This record gives sequence, C-alpha cells and structure tokens, in this order.
Amino acid sequence: MNGYPLYTLIYTSKAIKPFSIDELDHLLERARLFNQGHEITGMLVHLSGFFIQALEGPERLVSGLFSGRISNDSRHNQLEVVAKGPIQERKFGEWRMAFNNLDCLEERPEGFSEYLEKGFTTEFSSKNSAVAAAVLNNFKRKFSNIGS
Ligand SMILES: Cc1cc2nc3c(=O)[nH]c(=O)nc-3n(C[C@H](O)[C@H](O)[C@H](O)COP(=O)(O)O)c2cc1C
Repeated sequence: MNGYPLYTLIYTSKAIKPFSIDELDHLLERARLFNQGHEITGMLVHLSGFFIQALEGPERLVSGLFSGRISNDSRHNQLEVVAKGPIQERKFGEWRMAFNNLDCLEERPEGFSEYLEKGFTTEFSSKNSAVAAAVLNNFKRKFSNIGS
C-alpha cells in the first residue's frame, strides 16, 4: 500500500441521535467496504454520541471521502477537522477501519481522561488536535487486538 504520498485527516463530529450497536455495526460495514477499495485505513472512535475518526491514504481519496460520503451523512453534524497533512507512513495500516466503542469498554485508555474531564466536545478537540492524535495513538497501542 505504499509508493505514493500519504495524507491524514482527523476530525470529530457529533451524532444527531444515539447510534444503536446495530447501527454502528452497519456504518462500519459500509465504511470498511468503501475504504478497502480506496486504499483508506484509519480508526473510528465512538463515545456518548461523539466520534473521532482518523483517515489515511492518498490525499485525493481521503479528502474526497471526507467531503463526500462522510460530510454528507446526515446522521452526524458539527464536523471539525482537528488535524490534516502529509504523513510518512500509515499509523493504522493494518486495519481498513479499526473501531472502538468506548461506551462498551470498562477500562478507558490512557490519554482519554482529559477528554472526560474537559468534555468530549468538538470544540475541545478542535483546539487540541495533539490530544486527539494522542488518543488515537493510545487506542492503537492498547487495543490493537480490536477491530478488523
Ligand atoms: C462517524 C461516521 C464515519 C464514517 N466513516 C466512513 C468511512 O470511513 N468510509 C466511508 O466510506 N463512509 C463513512 N461514513 C459514511 C457512512 O458509511 C454511510 O453509510 C455512507 O455514506 C453510505 O454508504 P452506503 O451507500 O454504502 O450505505 C461515515 C459516517 C459517519 C457518520
């Protein structure tokens, strides 16, 4: 999956109404199917109706996915890009789209407490892109057995 410049985009958003487990499963299934065919990997994190998603892949495909399918999905709003730019290598290369539903985890990963204390809001995370990236890195390290 290498040989072309890689790009990443991390955003946060808020669900319009709560997603059931089945709805999240379905979303993931559709997302993975599309991403797999477009060399896009990443991670989606869900907590209490908020999402953080990291996308990575060729810039044109990542930007197209974000501004198209993802932005047009009326099940969420308040989309805020917290970080974007070129990257040397994939962080989530082994997954088509890993997923963590924090609502289902008893133990939350290190780095997440800041979100819990200050509120997991798009406003917070857009001002703290480094925290969003750190949270995603922690997920990757600690929960690398979850996802596909
Ligand atoms: C939080 C969130 C993350 C999403 N992530 C992706 C994604 O990574 N890839 C993708 O193709 N679609 C993504 N979508 C869009 C949904 O998968 C949606 O089902 C899609 O636009 C409709 O596709 P379908 O016609 O295949 O059902 C996302 C939507 C939401 C709400």
